[in-house]
Amino acid sequence: MARSPRWQVIDGEDLYRKLAMGEPLAVLDVRTETEFEERHIPGSVLIPLQELESRVREVPNSGVPIAVVCEYGIRSASACQFLAERGVDQLFDLRGGIEAWPGPVAAGMEANGRQVHPISPERFLIENFHFLPKGLALDVAMGEGRNAIYLATRGFDVDGVDVDPDAVRRARAAARKLGAPIRGVVGNVEDGTYIIPLETYDVIVVFNFLHRPLFTDIRDGLKPGGAVVYQTFSTGQRELGPPADPAHLLRPGELEQVFDDWEILRVRDEIEPRGPGRPPRAVAGIIARKPAEF
Ligand SMILES: C[S@@+](CC[C@H](N)C(=O)[O-])C[C@H]1O[C@@H](n2cnc3c(N)ncnc32)[C@H](O)[C@@H]1O
Repeated sequence: MARSPRWQVIDGEDLYRKLAMGEPLAVLDVRTETEFEERHIPGSVLIPLQELESRVREVPNSGVPIAVVCEYGIRSASACQFLAERGVDQLFDLRGGIEAWPGPVAAGMEANGRQVHPISPERFLIENFHFLPKGLALDVAMGEGRNAIYLATRGFDVDGVDVDPDAVRRARAAARKLGAPIRGVVGNVEDGTYIIPLETYDVIVVFNFLHRPLFTDIRDGLKPGGAVVYQTFSTGQRELGPPADPAHLLRPGELEQVFDDWEILRVRDEIEPRGPGRPPRAVAGIIARKPAEF
């Protein structure tokens, strides 16, 4: 009787889509350090195939499926076999290796295991998606657009603004590739050259960016009944690493104060673990709904 396969083969497109949709998934790269340094999937962890046996304890083991990546899909199949024999289940072997990867790539060793330009949306957004009224959304300081793209793939019409033209270009390209176009705009939300239009949006999201004068613009930019999703570093981050500038750190209870006359749907203020080898981060977040009559 044929043995059922103990891992699945996955295409680059499918892996990219899973990550962009925020499916919990670890990416293990089994190439050499030189190959990894040159280009790799953002957020992937490097353990070269020949070191896998001695470093098997470093394989991401948080219970989420693991996608294994190499250059052309040969070493990754051996790694899957090795891991499956040691009882690791939920394995995906990237068919064709990094050559077949359609998404963004990172370079350098300092990015090993770190989400330098993450592909996956923030969990706070995914977990609270059901609170958001459908329609037109704005992602402020969207970076490479992971959260904007997530909203677009889930049916929102999305504008995204960022001051960095390269980031906006990459966000637009990624959104097109995933079949969920966004309107990416290059704009500076701090110097008055980009201003959120009044009562325009059903949802405004801001992640990992703080410019306090924006709070008023966000309040004004939402339609009555619209929702804000704001999450960034809090003062607890001072003990954990950058950023340390108080201008970039939310004070305890600050978001609740800013939106205290709105319906508060969710708040968080916690130290968030970020997986093996990565320091935790201190974040605060809120989801609040503007009153229908305002
Ligand atoms: C840490 S990144 C966060 C990106 C994205 N929100 C995310 O969580 O993936 C901060 C972003 O803010 C953008 N940014 C900084 N100053 C800005 C400004 N004055 N106006 C618009 N965007 C700005 C940067 O270009 C960068 O993409």
